[in-house]
Amino acid sequence: MEIFEKAYIGSCELKNRTIRSATFEGMCDANGFPGESYYALYDELSKNNIGGIITGFAFISEEGKAIQPGQAGIYSEDFIKPFKKVTAKVHENGSKIFMQLAHTGRQTRSKEINRIVVGASQKKSPYFREKPKQLSKTEIVEIIEKFGNSANFAKQAGFDGVQIHAAHGYLVHQFLLPGINNRKDEFGIDTKRGLGLKFLDLVIDKIREKCGEDFPILIKISGSDDYKRKFSSSQFSNLIMFLDLKKIAAIEISYGTMDHALNIFRGDVPVNLILKYNKVYKVDNKIAKWFLKSLVFPFFKTKLQPFTPMYNLQYAEIAKQLTTIPIISVGGFREKSEIEYAIKEKNVDFVSLSRPFIAEPDFALKLSRNGNYKSKCINCNYCAIMCDSKFSTKCYKGGEL
Ligand SMILES: Cc1cc2nc3c(=O)[nH]c(=O)nc-3n(C[C@H](O)[C@H](O)[C@H](O)COP(=O)(O)O)c2cc1C
Repeated sequence: MEIFEKAYIGSCELKNRTIRSATFEGMCDANGFPGESYYALYDELSKNNIGGIITGFAFISEEGKAIQPGQAGIYSEDFIKPFKKVTAKVHENGSKIFMQLAHTGRQTRSKEINRIVVGASQKKSPYFREKPKQLSKTEIVEIIEKFGNSANFAKQAGFDGVQIHAAHGYLVHQFLLPGINNRKDEFGIDTKRGLGLKFLDLVIDKIREKCGEDFPILIKISGSDDYKRKFSSSQFSNLIMFLDLKKIAAIEISYGTMDHALNIFRGDVPVNLILKYNKVYKVDNKIAKWFLKSLVFPFFKTKLQPFTPMYNLQYAEIAKQLTTIPIISVGGFREKSEIEYAIKEKNVDFVSLSRPFIAEPDFALKLSRNGNYKSKCINCNYCAIMCDSKFSTKCYKGGEL
């Protein structure tokens, strides 16, 4: 297999095996409608020899909205027309685009969304620190319906498929994990497989019911996490085999949850920036700032996993042994030789990247022209921390604020 050859996700043909992984844009209005910078971003990405694009997470329901300002939404017919403008441009530029659908569940704050926080259970996220209301069965059924409706709006807007966000600790992931999901009803943990699959199962079925069997449904999952009751390799295998049975169009494999967000995107920990912009750690008090800076963060850093090239590839490798569904590996790809290694040596079908495309939207074009090209991304993680600010996502090159 070659990077720059055509490849398929379901019936959808991509011109090569590079994908922009979902990346929060911060370019929409308070209701989730895309603005001019959102259009410009996707125009630029799609013009530059990228195989496919996955949008930043779009909320499917107002109580499932994230704390970051400027998140995209897709929860009513009103979104069809504005997003059509995006997909038309991407298609005109010869690329493909999938919309990532998300519900935050417990990973949000009532103060930010002006609604109560809901979750698979009443268990608090150690990071967001707000006890969610456990969703009732009626509310679960409503959310499943909303996932279906949102997928249908995305389809009508011209997206080539949708990606269910079942990674990074968001609602679908909350249902999957026994450490979070302690429900005793049918949405609880299936003890044989060690996972709470019912919610995801019904979301997939609902999207198919609303969008037809052929509409590509992709999924993003986490290969492992940082909780005490770590997601085991057998749970991971069971999840892949379940997705195989459900005939998902492609599985993207990431890592972790927002409770240890800096293990999702590894690299530097810009403490000063966190204390200034992060919605949870932001402090004005000098003593509190000193305490966090001198004691809390140095300890916290010892718990973090270092950035290493291709840091989630091992999960993609396991998945390749269990299914013929296209596998997308994400995390720490910075140069052509690494992408080539994943595709040629490990038989991964696609490689997706986030930060390299923030640093250089034309990274795929540069790679295709120069085999030795290396990403300009320095993993400073300013882009990730600044998601909480009022500014749109961009590359800060480790210091240009
Ligand atoms: C600024 C920023 C925004 C992100 N937004 C999302 C998102 O909306 N949905 C998602 O699934 N992952 C999101 N991610 C995670 C990336 O998709 C990717 O999994 C992670 O950054 C590792 O890939 P990389 O090393 O190529 O950056 C985001 C990452 C960054 C840096």
